[in-house]
Amino acid sequence: MVALTLNLALAALVVVCYGRFEPLQHSGPASPYFDAPSQYGISPSTPAQCTVERAAYILRHGSRYPEPGSFAGWQTLFEKLQNATYTARGPLAFLPSWVPPVDDVPHQPLYLTSTGAGEAFHLGVDLRKRYRFTPGGDNFTVWAAGQQRVVDTAAYFVQGYLSQGNYLSAPAENRGVIVSMPDSVNYTFADSLTPSNGCPTYKGGDTSSKASTFRSTYQGQIAARLNHYLDGLALSASDIGVMQDLCGFQAEVNGDTRFCDIFEEAEWKNYEYAHDLNYYYGSGPGNPFSATVGYPWLQAVTGLLASEQSSSANMTEAERAFNPPPLVMSFTHDNNLPPVVSALGVWNTSSTRGVYPLSPTRPDPNRTFRSSYLVSFLGHIALERLSCDPHSPSSGVRHSAGRIDPAAGTSAQALKYVRIRINDAVVPVPGCVAGPGSSCPLKDFVSYVRKRGVVAGDFVERCGLQGVKNATSVLDIFTRVPSKNAQTFELLLPQSNAATAL
Ligand SMILES: *[C@@H]1O[C@H](CO)[C@@H](O)[C@H](O)[C@H]1NC(C)=O
Ligand SMILES: *[C@@H]1O[C@H](CO)[C@@H](O)[C@H](O)[C@H]1NC(C)=O
Ligand SMILES: *[C@@H]1O[C@H](CO)[C@@H](O)[C@H](O)[C@H]1NC(C)=O
Ligand SMILES: *[C@@H]1O[C@H](CO)[C@@H](O)[C@H](O)[C@H]1NC(C)=O
Ligand SMILES: *[C@@H]1O[C@H](CO)[C@@H](O)[C@H](O)[C@H]1NC(C)=O
Ligand SMILES: *[C@@H]1O[C@H](CO)[C@@H](O)[C@H](O)[C@H]1NC(C)=O
Ligand SMILES: *[C@@H]1O[C@H](CO)[C@@H](O)[C@H](O)[C@H]1NC(C)=O
Repeated sequence: MVALTLNLALAALVVVCYGRFEPLQHSGPASPYFDAPSQYGISPSTPAQCTVERAAYILRHGSRYPEPGSFAGWQTLFEKLQNATYTARGPLAFLPSWVPPVDDVPHQPLYLTSTGAGEAFHLGVDLRKRYRFTPGGDNFTVWAAGQQRVVDTAAYFVQGYLSQGNYLSAPAENRGVIVSMPDSVNYTFADSLTPSNGCPTYKGGDTSSKASTFRSTYQGQIAARLNHYLDGLALSASDIGVMQDLCGFQAEVNGDTRFCDIFEEAEWKNYEYAHDLNYYYGSGPGNPFSATVGYPWLQAVTGLLASEQSSSANMTEAERAFNPPPLVMSFTHDNNLPPVVSALGVWNTSSTRGVYPLSPTRPDPNRTFRSSYLVSFLGHIALERLSCDPHSPSSGVRHSAGRIDPAAGTSAQALKYVRIRINDAVVPVPGCVAGPGSSCPLKDFVSYVRKRGVVAGDFVERCGLQGVKNATSVLDIFTRVPSKNAQTFELLLPQSNAATAL
């Protein structure tokens, strides 16, 4: 009874905490990874009568230190706070002793924080448990754009994914391979995990300056409110931008959340909406070339999900260069995720009128496009191929001695479906939700993707690359290793020296 009461008390505490507004879940691209809440009321668990047979992910790297530009902003704020003589009170009383959380400038800005490394390792462990795809001892290949923080994220992921057993002392087994490629270059076109750089028209479609216009409508008011806590110093609108960024970044670097505590809920919501506008109009559905740039990835992984048996079964001899694992991981940057949302045609329609395109001035609470639920650090879009029995397992299962009963989704009548998950949450395929867990029948998904291809258009054509040497509309990296067009190179994961030490 005592235990029960205690459990109830704990449950109540969890509910209370859960209900509290959490700035770190409204910080857009500065948010550490968290599972996005369901916006459609669909459970992210695999339905009981199904098993996931294959999955493909595209991910942003884990939490990192600031880019040099934002780091300069931190330093300017620091100098301003140090140069003046003033009194700071209440929530701002920590400012006179605050120092930017960077203590080794050549090795920190741009690169992962240990939070970012931990996020990646943890996801590796989670996906190994979720899918149970890779038997002990097997090798595992992932794909990554070439910047160090992206490759490092892939490496920590693989280390988590392959962290079972004693394979660290068996270097020929359980090998991790990262297929990497030039990052943010313009000469590999669609055959890249950073394809927007290879599409010259894409920049012209970027109207993300709407975000700065929106920021200018609220930052001054926040500064005026906070300046009541300061005598002898005045914060400016641009200081507010830096300080709101520091909530997420500093929490990730060293766990200090004091910048999170000084802003009010409505101020966080405006900050978040500015990020939503930035991604919606910069790299997402509000950029007319976004779907064009996201489509080659969608087309490539849909081909892998749709193929029968082994993923290379239907390929010609020349194409059958590489048989990708059932879990295909593609690591890249924040701006390469919204194009996949556009190609998929999700998060851009609403049953209430007037939600899309997003208003440049008025945040609509009914919008599903939320940067915090997509481009948080380690944010990702996943496509899962499910194999489902026609019925849920019954509650009483009779076992006959001497034979293991078939697992869910493996009966002869099992049918194939696809689900989209964005930061864990299931996002229904528009107009295609008839399967278990609101999944879309595989062949309907394939025709849906084909229709989205018409909206996206051909990469070479829409990017104005006709006649450009080597220009391609196809992402071939998952079935060609190495890929000449993508200029891939392979990295073997560092092996432990445990074997020699023993
Ligand atoms: C702080 O003071 C130094 C030295 O007087 C000056 O060079 C610098 O520009 C000042 N920085 C800011 C942000 O005011
Ligand atoms: C894994 O990779 C290692 C090193 O390349 C190789 O020797 C080994 O045969 C591979 N194992 C499997 C199961 O493919
Ligand atoms: C790639 O960038 C270079 C340097 O900016 C430029 O000269 C070249 O025309 C670009 N190529 C394409 C295909 O856009
Ligand atoms: C998103 O919705 C807007 C408004 O309906 C539309 O103009 C735009 O083309 C859509 N974007 C995509 C990628 O489907
Ligand atoms: C693969 O080939 C088989 C036999 O020719 C065919 O039935 C099947 O539809 C093909 N699958 C795909 C995804 O093209
Ligand atoms: C949001 O959607 C609901 C249900 O469609 C509607 O009743 C409500 O008015 C909408 N809210 C806004 C602010 O448009
Ligand atoms: C085309 O690709 C080949 C080999 O991948 C490379 O050597 C050549 O420089 C490329 N040409 C251009 C114009 O980029």
